[in-house]
Amino acid sequence: MQANGQKRRRVGLIGAGWVTGYHLPAWRQLSDRVELVAIADPSSSAVATRAQDYAIPHTFADAQTMLDSVELDAVDICAPREHHAALVRLARARGIDILCQKPLAEDFAAAAALVAERAGPSRLMVHENWRFRAWYRQLRRWLDEGLAGEVAHVQLDFLSSGMIAGADGLRPALVRQPFFVRQPRLLVMEVLIHQLDTLRFLLGEMDVLAARLARSNDDIIAEDRAAITLRLRRNGALVQLTGDLAVHGMPPAPRDQLRIIGSAGTLRLEGNQLLATGRAERAEVFDADRTYQGSYDAAIAHFVDCLQSGADFETAPEDNLVTLRLVEDIYRLAAFDPAQKTG
Ligand SMILES: NC(=O)c1ccc[n+]([C@@H]2O[C@H](COP(=O)([O-])OP(=O)(O)OC[C@H]3O[C@@H](n4cnc5c(N)ncnc54)[C@H](O)[C@@H]3O)[C@@H](O)[C@H]2O)c1
Repeated sequence: MQANGQKRRRVGLIGAGWVTGYHLPAWRQLSDRVELVAIADPSSSAVATRAQDYAIPHTFADAQTMLDSVELDAVDICAPREHHAALVRLARARGIDILCQKPLAEDFAAAAALVAERAGPSRLMVHENWRFRAWYRQLRRWLDEGLAGEVAHVQLDFLSSGMIAGADGLRPALVRQPFFVRQPRLLVMEVLIHQLDTLRFLLGEMDVLAARLARSNDDIIAEDRAAITLRLRRNGALVQLTGDLAVHGMPPAPRDQLRIIGSAGTLRLEGNQLLATGRAERAEVFDADRTYQGSYDAAIAHFVDCLQSGADFETAPEDNLVTLRLVEDIYRLAAFDPAQKTG
């Protein structure tokens, strides 16, 4: 029971993999309002570890059995993307609320079909946490204050050496997230979807003008290089988004480097530093690890806040479809052939 007399929401996790290492601390912070009741994952070792570390009383090998066995108010879907749509439908059939990790479905058409269906009493939020990072919230406030003025052009780079094999023959990006190996759509659908969503959050709606995708190595089946040009609808300014996981001289774990050049000032994000020059001189340094976990904390707290207040989710499925449309346009324009390796 909460201090205000309301019942704590009973939540079940679907999936117990890598990303739940960030979801679970976020849920734990909300323990005055939320009770973690159950977790389901076909990997018995993954569920056992998470259940033990976070004192989750009920474990299951699959979501259906979990939903049949325990009473829940909400589920947090952290399974791989190919299961998202089916799991959303499973939870909707019970009328319970749903937080679903990005991407909402495997492609735009599958996500659009899901959004078009009747949801009944069940509310759905897409877990799109990148835009909840503290430096992006601050950057948005600076933009709203007019520190950039009229935006002239924008560059966002997400560069790492994670796909370059080390002396041990291992590629750090694949050690960190082994499921990258088998993804049929990798860099844009899995990673740059975050930057695209964040650019929309900061600058407004845009269209994709051109895109080129490539693959740096044979251990993966999809793209790990992307050069994308977008155009802001409101004034035609160009936005260049470059993602590349095989860049010599870059660290294995990438950080966003963003430059917004405007009529009144330049706003820059350089790793964990935010800088403004021009109309106002500002500099702010963030703790990178705290900002990373903080984006999960903020997204999950937003879900619970909106369930309690009835307010709209910032990352509602309808909004997320706009980001997924950009992703789809990029794959279409790039006409990337995964069979073709470009070194
Ligand atoms: N927001 C972010 O920054 C971020 C970061 C990483 C991953 N993700 C997303 O989180 C999701 C999971 O990624 P991950 O890195 O944890 O992957 P992972 O491979 O580490 O874990 C996935 C887990 O899901 C389990 N699983 C498979 N099918 C299942 C099913 N039908 N029901 C329940 N569990 C099932 C697997 O056994 C595995 O334990 C993906 O959608 C990914 O895009 C988001």
